[in-house]
Amino acid sequence: MKKKIALIFGVTGQDGAYLSRFLLKKNYKVFGVKRRSSIINTQRIDDIYRDINLKSDFVLLYGDLTDSSSISHLIKKTKPNEIYNLAAQSHVKVSFEVPEYSADVNSLGTLRILDAIKNLNLEKKIKFYQAGTSEMFGRTKEKFQNEKTQFYPASPYGVSKCFAHWITVNYREAYNIFACNGILFNHESPIRGETFVTRKIIQGLIRIKNGNQKKLFLGNLYSKRDWGHAKDYVEAMWKMLQQKKPDDYVIGTGKTFTIKEFANRAAKKIGFKIKWIGKGINEKAVDIANNKVLIECKKRYFRPVEVDYLKGNAQKAKKILKWSPKNSIDNLIDEMIEHELKNPS
Ligand code: NAP
Ligand code: GDD
Repeated sequence: MKKKIALIFGVTGQDGAYLSRFLLKKNYKVFGVKRRSSIINTQRIDDIYRDINLKSDFVLLYGDLTDSSSISHLIKKTKPNEIYNLAAQSHVKVSFEVPEYSADVNSLGTLRILDAIKNLNLEKKIKFYQAGTSEMFGRTKEKFQNEKTQFYPASPYGVSKCFAHWITVNYREAYNIFACNGILFNHESPIRGETFVTRKIIQGLIRIKNGNQKKLFLGNLYSKRDWGHAKDYVEAMWKMLQQKKPDDYVIGTGKTFTIKEFANRAAKKIGFKIKWIGKGINEKAVDIANNKVLIECKKRYFRPVEVDYLKGNAQKAKKILKWSPKNSIDNLIDEMIEHELKNPS
């Protein structure tokens, strides 16, 4: 039987790496799009090349979401059955520093892919997945967000993803493209980018434990996030594209924790006994064993406006996709710690 072909934009990212492995195990041929960088940045997918059973079906090609011609060329060359758009300037805080670039990649980049599918007359041949985000809910007052919750984005990143969401809906309705939006809540893993808070906390505390760092500096300790495992979430992306009809789905665990709670759990598992002292920007975590300060707050890690509370209601995905998360926050932290201990940075 002919193998299905997937084209993944954002293959070098956390989700790109998990999705590639997932699809290769399902017997797909996977083309991954990487951008040119001055230093090799394929660490997350290098082990696929080392895997004799996977490497012949995994091909990397150059491209960029800011370059329409590269997008059309890649689609013509690879003739995919499924396109996964995971590429983005995905850091919320950084999007305040580079708002125009974030919109170019995240919003117009999505439009460029959809428009290429349409202009190449491949509406009936290609299924499209768009990596949407709970950041689109932003400052909503709803306490359990689902597909019907109104968007109220609170960063250039969140706003850019709202455009991507609606242009995906628009091309689905206007041109009958099989296009789905996943509205994914935060998902993490041992290969999460080092500047996202979960990886930063675990990496920082382990460095302190090993004597390689003195303190960990964080921003807002009181925002709440619904954290799942990336490995579970890429399965949901694939399931969306296997349905009879294209649709949009919230993917989350339905549980939410503050950054402080995450740090407490991680610290305990790493072997620290900590207590918190002080208030606001002066709040600190102290190591009870020696009274040394482990965690401090720094203004530069706060955002101009914060998303205070996210908790995802994935009932629709549960019912239609038969999807539910397999990993708890504790499994996730354990796995991240184990990886960090084996690969100290
Ligand atoms: P990530 O680790 O930051 O990966 C982003 C990927 O996009 C990287 O491969 C990056 O390439 C690529 N990229 C950036 N700009 C590009 C451009 N101009 N052209 C082509 N590729 C470009 O993000 P992730 O955590 O895997 O997330 C995947 C997607 O899901 C993103 O769209 C993100 O916004 C969205 N999302 C993530 C979460 C989450 O919690 N992880 C939740 C909801 C939605 P380089 O490696 O070269 O930088
Ligand atoms: N990054 C970071 N660094 N965040 C911190 C820090 C810090 O030092 N201290 C506190 N935080 C708080 C942030 O203010 C935010 O409220 C929360 O920790 C989570 O921040 P991130 O881990 O950077 O993730 P995010 O929620 O802003 O965005 C991630 O999840 C979105 C889905 O909701 C990204 O992966 C986005 O791409 C994704 O769409």
